[in-house]
Amino acid sequence: MNTETSIRDAFANQAHWAQKLGSPFTALVCRLLGERLDATTDVGSKVMCWMGDPTALADNLPLRLAGSINGLVLNGSAPTLATLYPPNPMPDPEVLWLALDETIRSHGPALLRRLDKAPQTNEVGRSAALMTGLMTIASVFELPFELFETGCSAGLNLNLDRFCYELGGVAAGTPGSAVQIAPVWSGPPPPAATVKILSTRGVDISPLRVADPVDRELLTAYVWPDMAARLQRVRAAIAIALDHPPQIDIEDAADWVEKRLSVAPKAGVTRVLYSTVAFQYFPAASQARIRGHAAKIGAKAHHEAPFAWLRYEVDPAQGNKTSLRLTLWPDGSERVLGVGHPHGLTFHHF
Ligand SMILES: C[S@@+](CC[C@H](N)C(=O)[O-])C[C@H]1O[C@@H](n2cnc3c(N)ncnc32)[C@H](O)[C@@H]1O
Repeated sequence: MNTETSIRDAFANQAHWAQKLGSPFTALVCRLLGERLDATTDVGSKVMCWMGDPTALADNLPLRLAGSINGLVLNGSAPTLATLYPPNPMPDPEVLWLALDETIRSHGPALLRRLDKAPQTNEVGRSAALMTGLMTIASVFELPFELFETGCSAGLNLNLDRFCYELGGVAAGTPGSAVQIAPVWSGPPPPAATVKILSTRGVDISPLRVADPVDRELLTAYVWPDMAARLQRVRAAIAIALDHPPQIDIEDAADWVEKRLSVAPKAGVTRVLYSTVAFQYFPAASQARIRGHAAKIGAKAHHEAPFAWLRYEVDPAQGNKTSLRLTLWPDGSERVLGVGHPHGLTFHHF
């Protein structure tokens, strides 16, 4: 059972992380909401009496509310508030609070509806880590890829070879793409190996559909509004996905992995199972089944039919940083290729 203090603490904690991860504006919004929201509105009452776990690893209530309000700014429903949102200069906190309070009071039903949906982003910047992993694999096995993504959200990163990369001075992907990915890099560059992708397919238990305008709004609403480059990238990736619709199945990741990835080896391609910031959200039983199935495929893999399990995930063994971890069969060796920002803005290649 939540107390008012635990709810306010969740907002303060999210404000801390938003500040640390480079979004002072989201930090300010979360801080103001956490300190000043009260139960005198339907929205305030729902938030203060939240029935689930409000924290970042569960319902993520602070980002639900901040993203729901941002959605109203983006779709033109809150024009006064919009004058205080980026790209305008950082507002005075008192002025911002008055506009937030007014928006919460006048858009109750719309905000309540949005609060019921879990925040969902599809972070295009994470494809920098994925491309680094694929280049590493391609430097070992010079074969084309078949890619399988679990927890792919809208599937934006299933088009990862249509983005343009600059990874520690090494170019990759499609030159001139509207999606430009160049994380702040440290350590050696990835091997300059050619990545040829034959097919991609993803699964998500609750995917967003780029073809659906409401889902498109959600994909941008949870991007922190003062991160202009992120917003531009997701919009450009949505445009690419509209032209090249990703193939996405709707089911639990473990059911899908067991069905879609045969244990029998597949010669002439490297099959890659991957996820970015998704594995932690799968039920423990699904995680164990995926681990087990990957090991079974790996046991049958050989040099003409390699198999890789690549994940860019929060890693307790790396101090909870987001690490790029690769297990590569037939030998089954596992190594951490690097650590990076959760949104892919920086990458330290080992
Ligand atoms: C934080 S999002 C990350 C999305 C995407 N991988 C990215 O990096 O932008 C986690 C995703 O995992 C999905 N998910 C959660 N549980 C799942 C499950 N059991 N099976 C498949 N997908 C799941 C969610 O719907 C959500 O889209």
